Amino acid sequence: MRTLIEHGTVVTPSDTFAADVLIEGETIAAVGKNLAALFHGNIDRRIDATGKLVIPGGIDVHTHLDMPFGGTFSVDDFESGTISAACGGTTTLVDFAIQPQSGPGQFGSLKEGLGIWHEKAAGKAVVDYGFHMIVRNVDKTSLADMDHLVKHEGVTSFKLFTAYPGVFYVDDASIFRALRKTGDNGGLICMHAENGPVIDVIIEEAKARGETAPIWHALTRPPRLEGEASHRVLALAEVAKVPLYIVHLSAAEALEQVREARDRGVRAYAETCPQYLFLDQTNYEEPDFGGSKYVMSPPLRAPGNNKSLWHGLKLDDLQVISTDHCPFCMKEKRLGENDFAKIPNGAPGVETRLYLTYQGVREGKISLNRWVQLNSAAPAMIFGMVGKKGTLAPGADADVVVWDPEKKHTLSVKAHHSKADYNPYEGREVVGGPTHVLSRGKVVVEGGQFIGKKGDGKFVKRGLTLA
Ligand code: URP
Ligand code: ZN
Ligand code: ZN
Repeated sequence: MRTLIEHGTVVTPSDTFAADVLIEGETIAAVGKNLAALFHGNIDRRIDATGKLVIPGGIDVHTHLDMPFGGTFSVDDFESGTISAACGGTTTLVDFAIQPQSGPGQFGSLKEGLGIWHEKAAGKAVVDYGFHMIVRNVDKTSLADMDHLVKHEGVTSFKLFTAYPGVFYVDDASIFRALRKTGDNGGLICMHAENGPVIDVIIEEAKARGETAPIWHALTRPPRLEGEASHRVLALAEVAKVPLYIVHLSAAEALEQVREARDRGVRAYAETCPQYLFLDQTNYEEPDFGGSKYVMSPPLRAPGNNKSLWHGLKLDDLQVISTDHCPFCMKEKRLGENDFAKIPNGAPGVETRLYLTYQGVREGKISLNRWVQLNSAAPAMIFGMVGKKGTLAPGADADVVVWDPEKKHTLSVKAHHSKADYNPYEGREVVGGPTHVLSRGKVVVEGGQFIGKKGDGKFVKRGLTLA
């Protein structure tokens, strides 16, 4: 099958130029001018990209599909989650597999956790996916399994938490051991950086005063405690002499720590997410328990905080935009109707990332090329997919988005493909959106319709970080 995307404007992290993109089977064959002439019309499918941008498919390195959390499960499985991703122009996900736990101190192995996640995804995903592994118990077996996952399974990154005591929290010594391990095997540690034990004390205090409303989720997780935890884990990585990646960075106080660490020469990397760029703490005040829609950790921050994040994205103190897609329906959110601490943490976002962040391009906050880098090229580089994903270079997987820079779209639960029964950006009008989305050469979205096939998504065995 030979597909030609013609007359478009190709955008890479460094260049913007008029070119056709030729796809042979599942891979990019050529990028250049007048490619149709070279084949004398011997082309199976032509996509006219006149007036459109042609970009590498989005890569979202932070999703939680079919995840047991907060007394329930995130509502998108690998089918609905990847359909939602594809419809928003994202063609690769890296989801978080979890080390199982059956009771206090009773942990399964990382290998078992990986097996569970392969089962969840197999036959369901519609676009390609990889896995990180959440490590909740750093013992000898886990450390040996980390080597195995990096060397043999294509799972080359691990998430550890300084938050959620009793669920995912691990102590500093555990973090340091895991960091040292990546010094041997080349893996990358990703950190959820909030001071969980102190947050739990503040939650206890708020509950004792009778506070129940969703806003207290934010008020009990002060930004300084994200800054503090970020400072700490960056110091541990500095001493261990390994790179570190901070996930879902929300607070200016945390960004400051990343910037300072980078200035000291630490290989510190961080992502932020659209919710921290486009929403703020005032959303928790929405009536009728509406604030619960935005309960996620870290929480939305004070109005104005997002200005620092945009600067960070522009100046490369933040390298990646991911989504932390972890959707729940209002039924699940209502588990915390009388106790803000019981509201499941997370919100949908995988479908809206490119739409939203493209508004930053339109408003001059980031360049078009930087937009491609943050959403596609940099995640490929940091998470071991260079040459295969996040690029339109010949030989790469033909994951391509034709993006109409003038398309008008209203973000809404009525338009999205996630199973979540609300959209955090309900009614927001955006300009720019995908007209065609190709996953390994196959058109999976056309004219806003999903036309791909369940099970076509393949597991991506990732290599080591190039960060
Ligand atoms: O609220 C969130 N972020 N839910 C997903 C779990 C995590 O910490 O990423
Ligand atoms: Zn997290
Ligand atoms: Zn997450």
